[in-house]
Amino acid sequence: MQQLNRLAAPTESKTTDQHYIQAMELLVEVVQALSLARDLETITAIVRQAARDLTQADGASFVLKDGDFCFYVDESAISPLWKGRRFPQSICIGGWCMRNQQPIVIPDVEEDERIPIEAYRPTFIKSLLMVPIRTRAPIGAIGTYWANFHEATPAEIRLLQALADTTSVALENVQVYTELENRVRDRTAELETANRELEAFAYTLSHDLRTPLTALNGYNYLLKMQYTEQLGQEGKSYLEQMDQSVQRIHAQIDGMLSLHRIKHAELEYEQVDFSSLAQEILADLQDRHRDRLVEVAIAEGLMAAGDPVLLQVVLENLLSNAWKYSAKTAAPEIEVGYLAESQTFYVKDNGVGFNLQDAEKLFQPFQRLHNALEFEGNGVGLASVARIIERHGGRIWAESAPQQGATFFFTLAEPTP
Ligand SMILES: Nc1ncnc2c1ncn2[C@@H]1O[C@H](COP(=O)(O)OP(=O)(O)OP(=O)(O)O)[C@@H](O)[C@H]1O
Ligand SMILES: [Mg+2]
Repeated sequence: MQQLNRLAAPTESKTTDQHYIQAMELLVEVVQALSLARDLETITAIVRQAARDLTQADGASFVLKDGDFCFYVDESAISPLWKGRRFPQSICIGGWCMRNQQPIVIPDVEEDERIPIEAYRPTFIKSLLMVPIRTRAPIGAIGTYWANFHEATPAEIRLLQALADTTSVALENVQVYTELENRVRDRTAELETANRELEAFAYTLSHDLRTPLTALNGYNYLLKMQYTEQLGQEGKSYLEQMDQSVQRIHAQIDGMLSLHRIKHAELEYEQVDFSSLAQEILADLQDRHRDRLVEVAIAEGLMAAGDPVLLQVVLENLLSNAWKYSAKTAAPEIEVGYLAESQTFYVKDNGVGFNLQDAEKLFQPFQRLHNALEFEGNGVGLASVARIIERHGGRIWAESAPQQGATFFFTLAEPTP
C-alpha cells in the first residue's frame, strides 16, 4: 500500500487554517489511494490510518454493519480497542451513528449515557468522534478516539465525514470489481468446459471416422483392381479423386489426433542441441528434394531446454515450412538463430511470406494462408508448434509481408532477467 504522509501535530506557530489546509492535502492523497483500492483489506488499512492522521486522534476504528450488529473490522490505536468483535447496534456508538445517520461527538465518555461504559472502561478512550459511512442507509462507521479530553471541532467532523464518504465509494467499487472478477472467472470456467467437451468430441469423432475411411479405401482399391475394364477413363479419374479426398481426410484426422497427444503428453526436460537438430532436419529435406538449392545458415552451439521429441516437432515444422514456402523464390535462404537478449529462437526464410493481418489464423488448426494448389499442406503444423511452445511456457509469433519472406520467433519459457 502506498505510504501516506503523516500529518504533523499542530504546533504553536501553525495556525488552525494552515493545519486544515495540510489536512485537506492529506485527504486528497487518501482519496487517490482509495480510488485504487481493489479489496476490503486495503481500504481498511488506508482508512484506519487516515482517520487518525486527519483528526490527530490516539485511535481509530473501522466499523461495518453486519445485520443487527456492528462489526469492528479494523483499528489503529495506541492500545487495543475492539478489533474483530461484534456488538448489537442498539448498544454501541457505531450503531447509534448508523441508526441516526449523523456524526456523534462525545467529549467525555463518562458523562454520556449513550456510551456502554463497561466496554469503554478497559480502553484509553476519554473522548470520541464517530461518523457514518454513507449518510443515507449507512453501511458502517468510522470512529476516532482521544485519550485526553477533546471536543471534536466542526473542521474535524467535516474531514472525517469526507473520509467516510470517499470510503463508501471505495467500498462500492470493491463490490463492483469483485462481481466483475467473479463474472470473468465464471465465463472462463464455462469456456474451458466447452473447449474440453469440444476437444473430447473431436477426438472421438476422429477416432471413429478412421474405420469407415479405411473401408472406403479398401473398396476403392477393389474397384480399381477388379473393375478396371468396366470403369473406363472417366470412372478411373473419379476414383482417383475419391482416393485423394480420402487421403486428405486421413491426414487431417492424423493431425487432430497428434494435436490431442501434444496437449496431453508428459513433458520430459533435457538440454537439446538445437544446431545439430536443425542441421539434420535440413539435410533430410535436401535429401528428399535433391533438385532444390537452398542456402542455409544455422547459428552454432544453440542449446534449448525442453522435451526432445516435441522440440524436434517444432523445428521440423518450422523448417519444412521455410523450405516449402521458399520453393518459388529465385535464391532461397533459410536461417536458424537466437537472440540472446530476449532469449528468443528464430527460423527465417526469404520465401513468399504472408500478410501479417492474417497472422492470428496461422496457429489455428486447419487454417492455411496459401491454397493447396500453390503449396500443399493440411494446416496443422503451426497449430502443433504453438501448442508445444505453450506447454513449455513460451510464446511464438511471426513477422512477414507478402513476397518478403517470413520469420517465426519463439521462446521456451518466460524470459528470465
Ligand atoms: N514460412 C512461411 N512462409 C509463408 N507462409 C507460411 C510459412 N509458414 C506457414 N505459413 C502459412 O501458414 C499456414 C499454416 O502453416 P502450417 O504449417 O500450420 O500448415 P501447412 O504448412 O499449410 O500444412 P502442414 O500441416 O503440412 O504443416 C500455411 O498454410 C501458410 O499459409
Ligand atoms: Mg507446415
